[in-house]
Amino acid sequence: MEKKKILITGGAGFIGSHVVRLFLNKYPDYQIFNLDALTYAGNLENLRDVEKKENYSFIKADIRDKEEMQQLFQKYNFDAVIHLAAESHVDRSISDPQSFVDTNITGTINLMEAALECWKGNFEDKLFYHISTDEVYGSLGKSGLFTETSPYAPNSPYSASKAASDHFVRAYGETYGLPYVISNCSNNYGPNQFPEKLIPLFINNIIKKRSLPLYGDGKYTRDWLYVIDHAQAIDLVFHEGRNKATYNIGGFNEWQNIDLINLLCGIMDKKLGWEIGESKTLISFVKDRPGHDKRYAIDASRIKNELGWEPSVNFEEGLEKTVDWYLENSAWMEGVISGNYQEYYKRQY
Ligand code: NAD
Ligand code: DAU
Repeated sequence: MEKKKILITGGAGFIGSHVVRLFLNKYPDYQIFNLDALTYAGNLENLRDVEKKENYSFIKADIRDKEEMQQLFQKYNFDAVIHLAAESHVDRSISDPQSFVDTNITGTINLMEAALECWKGNFEDKLFYHISTDEVYGSLGKSGLFTETSPYAPNSPYSASKAASDHFVRAYGETYGLPYVISNCSNNYGPNQFPEKLIPLFINNIIKKRSLPLYGDGKYTRDWLYVIDHAQAIDLVFHEGRNKATYNIGGFNEWQNIDLINLLCGIMDKKLGWEIGESKTLISFVKDRPGHDKRYAIDASRIKNELGWEPSVNFEEGLEKTVDWYLENSAWMEGVISGNYQEYYKRQY
């Protein structure tokens, strides 16, 4: 029997690489196609340990290119899509919103158009799984949690572009019958995260004794989830999620930034053999991010009750594992920061 062909977009990025690895290892009967444009955030080093598997193929392509998406669907006839490719960093969206519109909105539409054209109304065993964020719901006050019925109220160009893409996926389901599922997840952390995001940026800055720029009063709150727990949730939603349903995914694990950074600094002092409190002296309160959302917190009871998913990694342990990974993979960090690998990809693909 022909293998089921799963297209995973953004598989060279942070979360995507963990999803690709999980699927390659767990489902040898699937052919996994990792489609990625290898932007600054895409790094095939993330997949070195699994890239030789015979059920893995890499496609360098840009989801902004509508024709190319159509051609790839015609060529490979994918059965399902797990769509993670995106511009993902809020601060970059503030300085360059247009690229978020192009990749996150137009790119998502291009993929759905290509899927519709390829599947031609025969949707049996087909699925478009859109990976999204809790940021579409905007900001919470001191109490309350985001549920799947919370109103959309995005505040940054990034979250507005993800909100728009969620709406388009839903509209394609209603209007053209595209089978879809969406999940909206909280802040991920773990190995392979690009050092523009809070945790890897601060780990790298501590190692280099650079200042730790905490935005505003540092009291902004996020719900943190270990990336492999997210990948496992994606596996479950992909296989068992209801058509047209949305699932919120979160860690039941809220931290104010300042408390999280104090915890991280303590771990770093221990790992680097520094005096207790040494890393903390690097903290510097800086100008706030415009439109900064005060608090995110997820009610993940739907995915828990319907699909039996729960986070498995304790935050302190996950953070320590993450620090260990960055300390043991300094070459990865240096490669990412210098961008050397991108020159190599330009020659290679
Ligand atoms: P990332 O920035 O680490 O990776 C994004 C990947 O997409 C990269 O490999 C990049 O090369 C690729 N890409 C970007 N533009 C592309 C294009 N035009 N065509 C093809 N590939 C392109 O992002 P991430 O943090 O792994 O996030 C993955 C997805 O999960 C995104 O959709 C994001 O919105 C969502 N999400 C992220 C988080 C988080 O905490 N990081 C939380 C919830 C949801
Ligand atoms: O909630 C899910 C979202 O989490 C994802 O959709 C995004 O792709 C992902 O980037 C993340 O967005 P955040 O803006 O929450 O993550 P970031 O790591 O950029 O920032 C986390 C918090 O730390 C936020 O309150 C801003 C603050 N921060 C961040 C940086 C980079 C600082 O105080 N200083 C910094 O230098």
